[in-house]
Amino acid sequence: MLKNNGKKTAISVASTACLCLLLLLVAVQHHRVQVDDSETGGEERSLLQDAAREDAGGAQVKKGFSAYFTKLTRGRREAEKPARSSSASAAEPPPAEDISADDIFIAVKTTKKFHQSRLNLLLDTWISRNVQQTYIFTDGEDEELKKKIGNHAINTNCSAAHSRQALSCKMAVEYDKFIESGKKWFCHVDDDNYVNVRTLVKHLSQYPHTQDMYIGKPSLDRPIEATERLGDNKMKPVNFWFATGGAGFCVSRGLALKMSPWASGGHFMNTAEKIRLPDDCTIGYIIESVLGVPLTRSNLFHSHLENLQQVSRSEIHKQITLSYGMFENKSNIINLKGAFPVEEDPSRFKSVHCLLYPDTPWCPPQVAF
Ligand SMILES: *[C@@H]1O[C@H](CO)[C@@H](O)[C@H](O)[C@H]1NC(C)=O
Ligand SMILES: *[C@@H]1O[C@H](CO)[C@@H](O)[C@H](O)[C@H]1NC(C)=O
Repeated sequence: MLKNNGKKTAISVASTACLCLLLLLVAVQHHRVQVDDSETGGEERSLLQDAAREDAGGAQVKKGFSAYFTKLTRGRREAEKPARSSSASAAEPPPAEDISADDIFIAVKTTKKFHQSRLNLLLDTWISRNVQQTYIFTDGEDEELKKKIGNHAINTNCSAAHSRQALSCKMAVEYDKFIESGKKWFCHVDDDNYVNVRTLVKHLSQYPHTQDMYIGKPSLDRPIEATERLGDNKMKPVNFWFATGGAGFCVSRGLALKMSPWASGGHFMNTAEKIRLPDDCTIGYIIESVLGVPLTRSNLFHSHLENLQQVSRSEIHKQITLSYGMFENKSNIINLKGAFPVEEDPSRFKSVHCLLYPDTPWCPPQVAF
């Protein structure tokens, strides 16, 4: 009798457990959907604010910047979110196309004054493994750089100013060089980005390069509102999403070819002038507004304008791009206890590189993280 009762209890406990598990699964699924919905939450600005600085002067921008970072701090409380959503997007479907790093054209935008302080770090880390697919777009001659990467150092002859026109000028050259290269994917990054090329290849192989693909992380939590100049003093309001250039973005060859009437030769500069927005917004304008192709969002791209502490330590190797920066005299860097202490490796890029490629000669042997 007692035995029988025990069995009954066991059965009822087991079925309750099953029900709970089922409910939990439903709840988790539901939560994941919500996370995905909110993951575009405006976490960063773009060159937009640089443009605003030109127009409005420092004070107003600083205020916007503070508000922006307050938002980030609020976001920090939900620090689990980016990790979960990036792992959701990392659960990738089988490849649509078998591509290799050689199929990608990676454009790094820099300026002569950062060749020493920023570019050398990239050349010593991720670029050293990917010289064949990386092209550096700058605005001055540098014999040292030429010695290192030869004709992959491209002097755009654009102005070294951080102006809208100068930035669009560089993007125009990047675009033309990509088309000339014949490669399948165009990816643009800045000189403060670490690119995990292995993850990038894996991510892009989900999509056929002949399809219209524009992949990156939106800069704002809503489409940007701009005004298109039509000539005859006529204006037309336009709304579109764009991927922030500071986090890096990619465009398939199929789509890049369709962009040609607005992007090739001198057309990119003209298009940028028509909407008076910086280079990354202009790319978004051509793709979303003119061609009607939606941005495919990815949380695996990171700029220095988001809170990089939110990148989960255990998922660093799954990210496509990383960055580093300063805000109000505090460094904004990923949280990685790596091969080098912060004093020796303030950007954390050397530590990231040793995590991804432990066989690198200058990495300390057998690092325990
Ligand atoms: C920049 O100017 C130099 C010298 O005139 C020229 O050789 C080079 O092709 C120019 N670069 C671009 C991207 O047009
Ligand atoms: C940052 O540091 C500099 C020099 O150490 C100082 O002049 C400046 O006021 C600081 N800025 C902020 C926002 O704390």
